[in-house]
Amino acid sequence: MAPPQDTFQKEEMSVTMADAIPTPSEPRYPVTKRTLSPPARGSPPTEVALKTGQDHKNWRSRSLHRLFSSTEHLNPDAQLEEDARVRDSIQVLRMNDRGGYTVPAEGLYPFQWNWDSAIVSAGWAVFDEERAWAELETLFSDQWADGMVASINFIKFSDTYFPGPEIWGTPEKPSKTSGISQPPVAAMSARFLFEHAENQDLAKAKVEELFPKMLAWHRWWYKARDPEKKGVVAILHPWESGMDNSPAWDEAMKFPIDPELPPYVRRDLTHVNASMRPTKDTYDHYLTLLYKFKKAHFYDPDQLYWISPLRVTDLCVNSILFRANRDLRWLALQLGKEEETTEIEQWLDAGFEGFNMLWDEEAGLYKCQDQITGKLADAGISAAFLPLFAGVASKEQAAKLVENLERWLSKVKYAVPSLNPEDPRFDQLQYWRGPVWLIINWMISNGLRHYGYEELADRIKQDSIELTNKAGLREYFDPLTGDGCGGRQFSWTAAMCLAWLDRPAAIGIGHKLSGPKKQLE
Ligand code: DGY
Repeated sequence: MAPPQDTFQKEEMSVTMADAIPTPSEPRYPVTKRTLSPPARGSPPTEVALKTGQDHKNWRSRSLHRLFSSTEHLNPDAQLEEDARVRDSIQVLRMNDRGGYTVPAEGLYPFQWNWDSAIVSAGWAVFDEERAWAELETLFSDQWADGMVASINFIKFSDTYFPGPEIWGTPEKPSKTSGISQPPVAAMSARFLFEHAENQDLAKAKVEELFPKMLAWHRWWYKARDPEKKGVVAILHPWESGMDNSPAWDEAMKFPIDPELPPYVRRDLTHVNASMRPTKDTYDHYLTLLYKFKKAHFYDPDQLYWISPLRVTDLCVNSILFRANRDLRWLALQLGKEEETTEIEQWLDAGFEGFNMLWDEEAGLYKCQDQITGKLADAGISAAFLPLFAGVASKEQAAKLVENLERWLSKVKYAVPSLNPEDPRFDQLQYWRGPVWLIINWMISNGLRHYGYEELADRIKQDSIELTNKAGLREYFDPLTGDGCGGRQFSWTAAMCLAWLDRPAAIGIGHKLSGPKKQLE
């Protein structure tokens, strides 16, 4: 596929995609032509246009329009609280807006992150449809020639994050993106935006542009991460799953650390307390993988699968990919793309098969699988419930998942902990080893609703709203106390509040949730 043109200003960079075709002496990834230069010392902080009043007016009138067409009666007190949360959420997205893309959180994550942005676009859609589409367009503006959409787009200079563009690339040729991917949420969001669009012409035009790019990315997943055709894809780096330090790959992460690992300084610990972040040992493993992949001809996808010491079938990526395939198929049908529909249906059929390998009947849970040893992970993680959102679980499996989920929730105050609270490794503060994440709650709650577990779905929604009332729009939350953890004024938490409050039913995934392709919607 031809490299895309840049559509947004890259103030500090003059960029070429010519390097996308590998040659022995040149990196194969998109690079900046010259070294990034930091902004002059003492330069004023970026101006933030707070248009909250206007945004809120837009949201309110549109929302009322939707609510009037529903039969729900509103409680005026709840409405006031809701208004305040909507205002805060809009303000956070505006503050984190860098012009066509939204940083997850000032300082801690100063670039465009892949699944963050795709989720955030659903938040923007509630009050600014054009801006919502722009988020996805920017995400794909740095797509690799082979179809990969990287986990991070280094769009404007920042020195508040490690590992930055000069680590993924070289100091002489800083990379324009990271060299691995992230959960492919984009097609889900594109469908969400399309289905809820008030500006139908805009939506149609945007989806037509985005469709081939999203398709190329899904093809990349199967080519680069499932060359053995298991029907489910591998992650080769924990950052590829988004659930960075999940106990689901504790065993798989026991490969040796590179003895020649260059010294490095973490920046995350200047923003967030170390008790809430991955350990040094874990970071050493992350960087061992990064440098190994870079040495393999700059992240050559044809090599990486075979040489990586970590190869895990991750539930988060696979559930999202499966769900995104359903949504991509739905979009293909709207656009009248028959051949593409057939191709996507083949992925879905293979996915139904592939997911069977991840079902642990005794535990009544889905599990991640170490592809190198073939073992299912011993940890029960919140992503175990995401196959409900994908619509790949059978009714019987759903019932067992619900049984487990109810037991987990009886041990904590707030749903859903990222690790089974009975697991000795459960840590209420540490990132993906216990805390609650709103985006995962949103997906689980929607999955439950579609399998008919309304009450449990409501509890998860109510807990999520209470967490943001109590602790603000934090990155993640302590499931025992409800305290906020990690980054503050976090974009995807704001987006979840907006999408959840504005559209209680969120994304429809059709009433037929499992079974052969003819039942897919
Ligand atoms: C980080 O640096 O914490 C990110 O999750 C990597 O993408």
